[in-house]
Amino acid sequence: MDFELHTAGLRAAKDFECDALVVLVGDGRLTAKDPLSILITQALKSGDLETTAGKALSLFRTPGMKAGRLVLVGMGDGSARQVRKAVAAATSVVARHKSVKRLFLCATKALSEQALRAAVLAVGEGSYVYGTTKSKPEARHLQSVVVGVPDADALAGALELAKSTLSGIELAKEWANRPANHATPTMLGQAAQALVHLPHVECEVLGPEEVQALGMGSFTAVAKGSQEPLRFIVLRYLRGPSKDAPVVLIGKGITFDTGGISIKPSAEMDEMKFDMCGAASVLGVFQALGELQPAVSVVGLIPTCENMPGPQAVKPGDVVTSMSGQTIEILNTDAEGRLILCDALTYAERFKPAAVVDIATLTGACVVALGGVRSGLFSSSDELAEQLLRSGEETLDSCWRMPLDDEYGEGLKSNFADMANIAGRAAGAVTAAKFLQKFVDKHPWAHLDIAGTAWKSGAAKGATGRPVAMLVDFLVRRAAGSAGRKKK
Ligand code: BES
Ligand code: MN
Ligand code: ZN
Repeated sequence: MDFELHTAGLRAAKDFECDALVVLVGDGRLTAKDPLSILITQALKSGDLETTAGKALSLFRTPGMKAGRLVLVGMGDGSARQVRKAVAAATSVVARHKSVKRLFLCATKALSEQALRAAVLAVGEGSYVYGTTKSKPEARHLQSVVVGVPDADALAGALELAKSTLSGIELAKEWANRPANHATPTMLGQAAQALVHLPHVECEVLGPEEVQALGMGSFTAVAKGSQEPLRFIVLRYLRGPSKDAPVVLIGKGITFDTGGISIKPSAEMDEMKFDMCGAASVLGVFQALGELQPAVSVVGLIPTCENMPGPQAVKPGDVVTSMSGQTIEILNTDAEGRLILCDALTYAERFKPAAVVDIATLTGACVVALGGVRSGLFSSSDELAEQLLRSGEETLDSCWRMPLDDEYGEGLKSNFADMANIAGRAAGAVTAAKFLQKFVDKHPWAHLDIAGTAWKSGAAKGATGRPVAMLVDFLVRRAAGSAGRKKK
């Protein structure tokens, strides 16, 4: 799908060569006397149209309009959140018609950079179709989207950011949505390798022997139950000022989580194919970085394997030695995410990182705590937490800070190892984070528990691509920040 900006308002919109014209209608009176403005004013007056975000009036073959379909939709106060709602509603009307290939989108009031990004992401979301494992895949009908704005040049940078973010989100969704037999650790390794076609993206994929040789006994233990060999993916995008230490992103890549010997109940177990959404988000971020080319240094680490029961599988009570040297008593084989992440956290130290952010569908407890609205954010650094929270708000891909008091870690004590991999039932999302924190050395660290936000269940079952938008915003801001510091 192609996005473009045109300097054009409502007057020009009616003559624009397209299949559908969407006008976002904000609060306030329209004074212009062109036909579209008059139509909108009259529709508001008659009560057929409201400016409430997402309330749509769709019209067919309106006299005087080039577009066969016209959708007028309320965008409330024009904030990013309300624009997202408006564009989502309009896209769901338009995407129903296969004949709509070219869309023109404009608004009665100027869109902010955040609102433009929200609009682009909402068109992407509303027109997305998964097809990889269907015999007759349906293609996305929408091919081009032109956004009419008062000054196209002023928003050019924001559009590039929005486009690459969408492209990252779509790569993340594609890999996350694929069933586990079409997204094995080996295939994820190949997907990462394929990203090197983008400028400045480098990739290295390690296999079981190399991972064993590194001393990653914890990661190795999780992978043992499966016939599928594990992979440890190392992505690099190093474009920051040479001295800058990189940001390391670590994505949990359990391509299927049966629970292992501590096996899960069968209801909804299919959704555990999404247990690699953290990994998919890291791939998505690298896609976006490769397209956008910001001046920032980022390393991506993805430990990926299946969590399966079987004759070789790790057993409850087994004690393993992590790469850090700390021993772990695996009391529950279903708490496997932390067992693969801890070795990646230790590996991350070799990059002398400026910050480490891990992204994981880590706990059912986080779904209970925060649902599908905000991701859980845990951080040892107030500064890093503030930056991530801010990027979450800017992109409407928000998170909520959770505590890390030492008292929460008390339940991780073990009689047979340095620690156990589970604590009691209480505060499960926090105790998981406390476990991870034992593998963090000096650098600022944040953990994002995306168990509730990475995918949707039920009729709309599918990956969301979260938190790609938040992470890309966070990294781009760091690039802008270091450029600013250099100038001083
Ligand atoms: N991948 C799951 C977490 C999960 C569960 C995400 C449901 C989304 C929906 C993780 O590996 C897991 O099984 N965690 C256990 C931890 C427990 C054994 C301490 C959980 O949350 O039940
Ligand atoms: Mn599990
Ligand atoms: Zn899991």
